[in-house]
Formats: sequence, structure tokens, C-alpha cells
Amino acid sequence: MTATTAPVLAPLPWNRPLISEDDIASVVAALRSGWLTHGPNATAFEQAVREDLGVEDAFAVSSCTAALHLALLAAGIGPGDEVITPSLTFCAAPNAMLQVGARPVFVDVEPATLNTNPEAVHAAITPRTKAIVAMHYGGHPCDLRALRRLADEHGLLLVEDAAHALLAWREGLRAGSVGDLAVFSFYANKVLTSGEGGMLVGRADLVAKARLLGRHGIDSSAWKRHGKGNTADYDVTVPGLKYVMSDLNAALGLSQHRKLAAFTARRAEIAASYTAALADLPGLTTPAVLPGVQHGWFLYPVLVDPAAAPLDRTCLAERLQTEHQIATSIHFRPVHTRQVYRDTARHSLPVTERAAARQLSLPCYPAMTDHDVDRVISAVRTQWI
Ligand SMILES: Cc1ncc(COP(=O)(O)O)c(C=O)c1O
Repeated sequence: MTATTAPVLAPLPWNRPLISEDDIASVVAALRSGWLTHGPNATAFEQAVREDLGVEDAFAVSSCTAALHLALLAAGIGPGDEVITPSLTFCAAPNAMLQVGARPVFVDVEPATLNTNPEAVHAAITPRTKAIVAMHYGGHPCDLRALRRLADEHGLLLVEDAAHALLAWREGLRAGSVGDLAVFSFYANKVLTSGEGGMLVGRADLVAKARLLGRHGIDSSAWKRHGKGNTADYDVTVPGLKYVMSDLNAALGLSQHRKLAAFTARRAEIAASYTAALADLPGLTTPAVLPGVQHGWFLYPVLVDPAAAPLDRTCLAERLQTEHQIATSIHFRPVHTRQVYRDTARHSLPVTERAAARQLSLPCYPAMTDHDVDRVISAVRTQWI
């Protein structure tokens, strides 16, 4: 008698970039061109994003974190200033606030979308408030009209952290096109990748300041006036940093950008399959899509209520991993609970804390096959039997 063994399941990662031959050819062409730093590819990538969003200007940088840092510096935000931001986010924006000497003021999120709550923002405004940094959670745009109105009424800078929302709309407004500034991430797991990379977009006066700050403070107009490629022939007008995107990264980003619509459509297809197959499970809440929203679907976040479901979020994640080789992720452990921020937090954030204890991100990316999607659905449903 021959022993039978269970088939070995290939691990399904939580996320994997979809890199095609045309992406590889673009990077190889950039390598062969002899121009490796910020140059023709980065400029073309900036132009593509600027035209796509209909914004005044765009600056391709080394990461979204760099874009956030430059946004605050360009707006002159510094010591003594307060910046209102959600805690249910990645640490990049609050870290940038501390780096410029400002104080992050964490506010709660809306229960349905987990987005920055405009009413909570309103309640947190003080005479020291200088800016709002709102985040489009998972790719579902915030209430852009309400946030814009609040910023205008109180003379505040509005920055959209659109790291998750490169192609998303709400009530006819494109995420990333409403703030004075907006930032995007092209990190390896994002809706499109340049390996590492980011983009700062928005008002031309602010992006011009950021461009100067992100290039060592080297006055490029002086370079244009006097320069003949002579590196001695420039001036440094502000103490800047070095945050530009290389042309190798931009070659990949630009190539991926051509596929953004197709990538997002596939993400939406996967999200629709999950919602259709999982929405009936007791204690599991599938993500809401408000009317008038085209979701970017960077994340597919479910909430597991341990009082109504047969298991809690952590147990579900462990079972998916150990029994089905399916990786998941959590977005996010709230920033105000992190060591650096524990003393900063003044308010309780009940919606944030409740969501953070229940949230789980299922795999949702264009490199997934239909079989992968079915595998996730069946693995989740099995836990409810
Ligand atoms: C909401 C948000 N903002 C900013 C960032 C930082 O992006 P980057 O890694 O490109 O600096 C991330 C990264 O995941 C993020 O999720």
C-alpha cells in the first residue's frame, strides 16, 4: 500500500508586485542610456502623473516619506505648530511632523471607511493648528469636500496622504487633486511600484519650494543662468536635502503607470469577488464603498468581531497562514500607541482602537490568479463552518 500525502500548497503572499517584460525593458533601456539619476524618465513620470491628476506640478522623489517631509518643510511647518492627522495610518506622516518639530494631533476615523473624520478634525483645531494631513485609507477617498472646506475656513494647509489612492475618486474629485499638496508612494507593495519612490504633487509655488529643498537647496535658476555643466557654478540658497527619484526607479514607475487603470480594475474585480463571497459571514464586515466613490483597492480590509464570529482577527490570520499558507497583513497598529507617540496622544480614539483590534487585510493585487482568489475565499469560509 502506498502512503498518500496531502498536496503541498504554494505560499500565497499578502502582496507581490506585477512586473512584466515591458517594465524590465524600460529599466534596461534606462541603464543603457547612460543617465541614471533624476533625468528624462523622472521628468516624464512627473508629467504623466501631473496630467493624469490635473494638478499644477509634480516632483518625483525617493519615497512617499520624503514627499511628506518636503511637503511640511515647503509649507514652513515647524516648532510650535500642530498638524491634525489620523492615528490609523502608517508612521511616515507623524514621523515627518516630529522631524520638522511640529506636533501631530491624532484624530479618530469614520467607522464605515476608517478614513479621517472631518468632524473630529474640526474639533481638534486650535490656534496652533497649521495643517491637516488626511489619509485615504486603503484607497477609499476621504470626504474631500468637507476637508477642503475646513482647511479653507480655518486657513490651514491640506495635505492628502494618497499613498494608497493613486487612482480613486469621490463625488467627481480625484484623490490627490484637492489638497494644497498630495503625496503618493511607489513602494514595492503599492498600486504601482518603482521599487522605492514617491511623488509630491499640488500647488506650483509649494512644489517649487519642495523641489529646491529636495535638491540640496541648489538654486537651479542660477545653474541655468550660469551653468555649462560646471559643478562649481551653482549656489545653495536653502539648507536642503537629497530626495530626488533616480531615473532607474522612474523608468519602472513610468512603465507601471501605463498599466494603472488595468491594475486597479483587477483589484476591483478581486474586491468584488471577496465581497460577494464573504459578506454573509456572521461577525465579518467587508469594506464599505460609499456612493459616488471609485475605490483604489490598495487594501481589502475586513473587520472581525470576536463576539459574533467563531474566531478573532489574530486567530483567523494564524489559521490562514498555518493551515492554508495564505499571508495577511494588519493596517494598522495605531500610531498613537507606538513608543515614540505614547506621550503625544491626548484623546482616546475609540473607533481607531476598535477597528485596529479587528482589522485584517486579505491579499488583493493584480498578480493574483482567479484560483488564488478562490483559495482565499474558501480558506476564510472554512473558518466559519
Ligand atoms: C499611508 C502611508 N503613507 C506613507 C507611506 C510611506 O511610503 P514610502 O514607503 O514610499 O515612504 C506608507 C507606506 O506604506 C503609507 O501606507
